[in-house]
Amino acid sequence: MCGIVGYVGNSEVVKALIKGLEALEYRGYDSAGIAVHTGKEILVEKKAGRLSNLKEALRRREIVGRCGIGHTRWATHGAATDENAHPFLSVHRRFAVVHNGIITNYLPLKRELAARGISLRSDTDSEIIAHLIDLFYDGDVLAAIASVVRRLEGSFALAILAASEPNALYGVRKESPLLVGRGRGECFLCSDVSGFSENCTEVAFPNDEVIVRLTERGAKAYDLDGKSLPLAFARTECHRSMEGSEECCMLSEIHEVPASVEKTLRSYPEEVVARLLREEHDEIAILGCGSAYHAGLAFKATMRELAGVRVTDYVASEFLTERYVGGEHPLFIVVSQSGETADTLRAVKRAKEHGATILAVTNVATSSLVRLADETVLTGCGTERAVAATKSYSAQVAALLRICLQYADIWGKIEKTELARYLAELSALPHKAATVLEGERTLADACRRLANASALYCLGKGADYAAAKEGSLKIKEVSYLFSEAYPSGELKHGTLALMEAGVYALFVATDPRLTEKTASSIAEVACRGASTFAIASEGSAERLGADEVYPIPDTIPAFSPVLSTVAMQLIAYYVGIYRDCDVDRPRNLAKSVTVE
Ligand code: M6R
Repeated sequence: MCGIVGYVGNSEVVKALIKGLEALEYRGYDSAGIAVHTGKEILVEKKAGRLSNLKEALRRREIVGRCGIGHTRWATHGAATDENAHPFLSVHRRFAVVHNGIITNYLPLKRELAARGISLRSDTDSEIIAHLIDLFYDGDVLAAIASVVRRLEGSFALAILAASEPNALYGVRKESPLLVGRGRGECFLCSDVSGFSENCTEVAFPNDEVIVRLTERGAKAYDLDGKSLPLAFARTECHRSMEGSEECCMLSEIHEVPASVEKTLRSYPEEVVARLLREEHDEIAILGCGSAYHAGLAFKATMRELAGVRVTDYVASEFLTERYVGGEHPLFIVVSQSGETADTLRAVKRAKEHGATILAVTNVATSSLVRLADETVLTGCGTERAVAATKSYSAQVAALLRICLQYADIWGKIEKTELARYLAELSALPHKAATVLEGERTLADACRRLANASALYCLGKGADYAAAKEGSLKIKEVSYLFSEAYPSGELKHGTLALMEAGVYALFVATDPRLTEKTASSIAEVACRGASTFAIASEGSAERLGADEVYPIPDTIPAFSPVLSTVAMQLIAYYVGIYRDCDVDRPRNLAKSVTVE
């Protein structure tokens, strides 16, 4: 959610910043901008809309320098306009600032600035930061930044240029991510490791409220009193896998589901996880946001069905505000593709205050979540570029299923023969997911009809309901078609009132034990005029009586979300395409949600 880059060194800065922003555009694409120190002054160029608009503007305007900052925005305060785009120049043009996060006390600070005759040119919470630094500046940049940091409430990662220092840039963070990179004769700032160039050979992760000053010779860190601090760099191989490609990511990432599941299972760190699972915990909880939370719901269903264990599920943002009534020594399994989601990270901190042990399931080894967690299971997806989580969701579920089986084994919840059968079936999932993908054309055809629905309801029971929730999120996210998920048995308690011609009911029906019940729900919907579509296991497809059925391979019902959601990911993709949506960059969203 907003991406920040900074560069100082021997290379041409505009090129370096744009390359970094290309890699970070997935974090927000409401606007993009750069500020460059030319040696004489700070110049800013910024444009609303995709990064391509900024690039176009820079083709018409030559800016040359060796030191600069850049930003790609996901709007929180103020619409996506040129005026609200970052960077912001301070009132006397002495500072330029880019910001990721939310300043929660910006209104009183804005009033304070107004009282001193400084009015804002934008509607953002970020612009005040540039003016405040200018206001506090009395010849000492570090001290001015420190004074402002003391005044700011909320979350922030900042990159700052000072007109008085043509060959330096500053960075500071609190709860939002900001990394420092070092190469030969150059230094970098970036919101995450994916934005660093391959010339960046070492990376450091500054703590909250540590100010870093970067020059081509290296990076130094200071506390808010100006005292020098150590900054630990680790060797890292950086490569920008996302550089500027325009090809469609979502579809290719759906096709990477089998490989992602396979790699996740193959690299599962059995010993590491066993250590945590063997500990006595009085609560097992799953926590995440969006698709990561939905992966947790699949885990919850599996733990109940296969291990007979109750799991508490927490949406991270809710967990932050509700009273905690869980265990005294809980195990929190925290799921996050990026490992940078603000709600999730805050929730982890809160859970730790309650004595929780944290097992992270994430795709990013260098993420903040990994640093907060006691142990980590890495999903083997490679970079996921499309905003919609697809292969990462599938890999998360695979990892969680593996955790479930290991837990059940350690605590004697399943027979060894059962365990062997389940493990064998788990290994078969990548191949079965590939089979689901083989029917892509059939699904694409059906989506021509689904795309014209007035609304779409995703329905299921048990693990199928967990999968329906994920499918429904995917559909609304990339196609903007109204979609909601319900347990199919709940229909008759209200939602059936909405069933009529034009509406589609999409049933996930993979559990053969529930086929008759689902068939009844399908009949109830159909006789009210709604169209019915079912994603069903081969074994039950015939008996459902839906208008259209897409069969997927049979598996253990608790494992089925790995397969049924692949079909729904394809449905979301094609419905989005037929409704003319930018499926890789859906409106109002960003890949990594680093604000609360
Ligand atoms: O990086 P995370 O897994 O923590 O992200 C959580 C959600 O923001 C994310 O899953 C979101 O719901 C996706 N866009 C869904 O496709």
